[in-house]
Amino acid sequence: MKLSIIILAAGQGTRMNSARPKVLHPLGGRPLLAHVLDTARALHAMDIHVVIGHGAGQVRDVLPDTDIHWVLQEQQLGTGHAVAQAMPAVPDENTVLVMYGDVPLISKQTLEPLCQMAGQGMAALLSAVLDDPAGYGRILHHADGSICGIVEEKDATRKQRAIQEINTGFLAAPAARLRGWLSALNNNNAQGEYYLTDTIARAVTEGTSVRGLTTDAIDEVMGINDRKQLAAQERCFQMRQADACLQAGVTLIDPARFDLRGRLDAGQDVVIDINAILEGQVTLGDRVSIGPNVTLRNATLGDDVTILANCVIEAAVIGAGSRIGPFARLRPDTTLAAATHIGNFVEIKKSEVGEGSKINHLSYVGDTTIGRGVNIGAGTITCNYDGANKHRTLIGDDVFIGSDTQLVAPVEIQDGATIGAGSTITRDAPAHELTLSRAPQKTRSGWKRPVKEPKG
Ligand code: UD1
Ligand code: CA
Repeated sequence: MKLSIIILAAGQGTRMNSARPKVLHPLGGRPLLAHVLDTARALHAMDIHVVIGHGAGQVRDVLPDTDIHWVLQEQQLGTGHAVAQAMPAVPDENTVLVMYGDVPLISKQTLEPLCQMAGQGMAALLSAVLDDPAGYGRILHHADGSICGIVEEKDATRKQRAIQEINTGFLAAPAARLRGWLSALNNNNAQGEYYLTDTIARAVTEGTSVRGLTTDAIDEVMGINDRKQLAAQERCFQMRQADACLQAGVTLIDPARFDLRGRLDAGQDVVIDINAILEGQVTLGDRVSIGPNVTLRNATLGDDVTILANCVIEAAVIGAGSRIGPFARLRPDTTLAAATHIGNFVEIKKSEVGEGSKINHLSYVGDTTIGRGVNIGAGTITCNYDGANKHRTLIGDDVFIGSDTQLVAPVEIQDGATIGAGSTITRDAPAHELTLSRAPQKTRSGWKRPVKEPKG
């Protein structure tokens, strides 16, 4: 069976109250439409057509994927009209599956049987039974139980509105037949639209067998029309990801407070405390421990790394056995070797830190290379920026930098050097020597503190 998938994504999404096209709102950090495309690809479609209209340019720019055949629907005249715009590019012998750009959690498993039925010449639709069917099209049956059509809520009689079996919108049919049914559509209905759903009654009249498949996976077929539904689907998506992590052997202290907006590869016995936000590609070695309120974005952590509470780590590589935080910030292009300690209120940017080195308190390290076994004292600042250009600081192995030191780059502190506390270092410091810059200490004996003058 050759499968052509048509994804409808031309609608405005009025109820989002947004300047952004609805299908570009993120779910798990990716556009809604990207999730639908994933599923379409997993079904091994021969071709994927995406019907766009509102914000078409924006949608295309965000998804530059080359395997998509974009179809412009200039005016949104209804779902049937939308599908018809894509049909000229679909060969007659193919099976067509219609998907929706705003229904992101649909799975391949749920859609496969629909495609198979359509592959055997039937029209197949996916339905669901809802406690509250309001707003959806209702499935109409003949007395013998076979499907005779779909009625939209706005066109339904009171009796029809009581039907709880709804149309999810997912539909599959042989292309040649669908083409015929679409050409016969009219817009004589409450909304003045060409309804895709009207093709079902047409198929029945024509004698094509119409099969309904009722799914229990209600989460999968819920569409997103407003921000409340978007938030609900986000939680649903995150719970699924949390379940997958738990199953893979990751401890999540509270699965309801875990957000993965990208991809996580985790080793064995990883523990993640509450309110973690993981973005992009995050790779964690064995026995990594992530404290509460930590953000990791495109980060790679070796075995036995401990991240204490409230750290923000972006585009960094952290060597095995290192301990970071609490309250540390690692900015892009930071590489820490094994067994490093980065403590509270330390910011590191575009720097390499050698094995066993420690930066434990209140420091800024930028554009710096630090050797092994180095101790950077509290409050040390690399002055990497002269207002126009950035300069590098080089720190050798076994260096000791006293507290409250400024290293004015470009500058080199050679192996084994010691820098006295409170120094402003503007020239290279030689190996194995003490270098310091400090005004001599004075004591004025007999000096008295001022006293408050009496009032009045
Ligand atoms: C549609 C179904 C309804 C079903 C419901 C499920 C029809 C007539 N009705 O109703 O039976 O219960 O979905 O959620 O099909 N779109 C276009 N171009 C258009 C119109 C719509 O691309 O001209 C796209 C929208 O962007 C959206 C999808 O098609 O992604 C569904 O359109 P919408 O107007 O939301 O249909 P519903 O009224 O929800
Ligand atoms: Ca809808």
